[in-house]
Amino acid sequence: MDVFSLSLLCLFLLFLSFSALHFIFHKKTGPSGGALPPGKTGWPVIGESMDFLSSGWKGQPEKFFFDRMAKYSTQVFRTSLFMEPAAVFCGAAGNKFLFSNENKVVQVWFPSSVNKVFPSSTQTSSREEATKMRKMLPNFLKAEALQRYVGMMDDIARRHFASHWDNKEEVIVFTLAKNFTFWLACRVFVSVEDPNHVNRFAEPFNLLASGILTVPIDLPGTPFNRAIKASNFIRKELQSIIKQRRSDLAEGKASPTQDILSHMLLTSDENGKFMNELDIADKILGLLIGGHDTASSACTFIVKYLAELPEIYEGVYKEQVEIAKSKAAGEFLNWDDIQKMKYSWNVACEVLRLAPPLQGAFREAITDFMYNGFSIPKGWKLYWSANSSHKNPEFFPEPQKFDPSRFEGAGPAPYTFVPFGGGPRMCPGKEYARLEILVFMHHLVTKFKWEKVIPDEKVVVNPMPYPEKGLPIRLHPRKA
Ligand code: HEM
Repeated sequence: MDVFSLSLLCLFLLFLSFSALHFIFHKKTGPSGGALPPGKTGWPVIGESMDFLSSGWKGQPEKFFFDRMAKYSTQVFRTSLFMEPAAVFCGAAGNKFLFSNENKVVQVWFPSSVNKVFPSSTQTSSREEATKMRKMLPNFLKAEALQRYVGMMDDIARRHFASHWDNKEEVIVFTLAKNFTFWLACRVFVSVEDPNHVNRFAEPFNLLASGILTVPIDLPGTPFNRAIKASNFIRKELQSIIKQRRSDLAEGKASPTQDILSHMLLTSDENGKFMNELDIADKILGLLIGGHDTASSACTFIVKYLAELPEIYEGVYKEQVEIAKSKAAGEFLNWDDIQKMKYSWNVACEVLRLAPPLQGAFREAITDFMYNGFSIPKGWKLYWSANSSHKNPEFFPEPQKFDPSRFEGAGPAPYTFVPFGGGPRMCPGKEYARLEILVFMHHLVTKFKWEKVIPDEKVVVNPMPYPEKGLPIRLHPRKA
């Protein structure tokens, strides 16, 4: 066959596959004969992925959702994302449905790049074991288990502020927030606290975090390939730490309560079975990934909003300085102090409402079902979006207004405020994140006032929100 005929044949085959996909994505009725949700599926193959992503790059991730909610339905609309037919479930009702039907009609779904880089335990153990382990994870991170780590968090925060903020005129907040959350995680999860050892992890870790949601082309030099290599490196390092710890624990050289790793090694499931080393390495890597950019994005936006809203800053300062005054010199923060930080946490929640670190997440329909009168076919990808309720005037009047009093008393209605998701897949790191954010706020406001170097710095969402230049600020130390 000559080159011309071959090209024609390729074009024809390409046309056929596009047409087939276009047909599948554009069908108007579902398997049960009911209508599919209203919406449009955009371009063949790429669907509406570019609109979805670019609204985030332009700093308005909610626009993709609210445009379609206005045009099609405030409850559910059809689209096509990441080469998959998809439906977006909107508002509190959509959140409630997806969160309450996990493993009944929906299950978690990740784009293929995440599955390949992220060594989820499904690759290392049976599905049954993975499910059991997911059940155990919240035990290591629940409030009672974390209480003993508050002083440790305070210690790391003091060292972080002393080496990166004190005596500086200007700092880039996003970089420092990442440094803080990563150092803290290394300490609390695996007792790695020497900054040089932390840095050994930090570089491959950044490669992993930035390659996880890229085009999944595994060729030398691609971000995806670098992410896979980095994840293998970190897992090996973690495994050697775990081996060492196992023998230290056996010889009484390590403490059973010194960190989350000891806790994991010594906790069995309901059948008396312990996790193997690879599973533990995967779990810890999962926690490092899950907690890294999310919490540092939250800390960064707290600094941003406090710079813009002096009266809110004063409220947080007043609360934190009272706590600081109640401590003896050198005494670490403790669990009781954290409970007193009510206003600060309301402020943090308002930041998480306006700039949720995770915009939402996917599920997959595991069966055909009806929702709100529309037919959802098995295999469709379903998306819940934090912004569809967080920035919805129906649930939060004047949604763009920064108002921490929304969280006073009973707080927002159920399923309207969902920065940590909900249901069985709700973020297991929620309580840990609350502690690290509050400890960060304590040191920040008791030590400094600050102003933004770039008054109208653009915000980008890719996939977490961050100020385009990392939020440079000018620091003004407070008098002790
Ligand atoms: C402000 C900080 C954080 C935010 C906003 C956040 C948000 C979320 C959300 C929305 C989910 C659920 C996604 C879904 O519905 O599929 C999630 C899952 C998860 N988060 Fe967080 N997270 C934060 C901090 C953390 C921290 C500090 C850790 C670890 C200590 C962590 C570990 C995880 C893990 C392991 C999952 C997956 C759970 C599963 O697969 O069942 N997160 N997070």
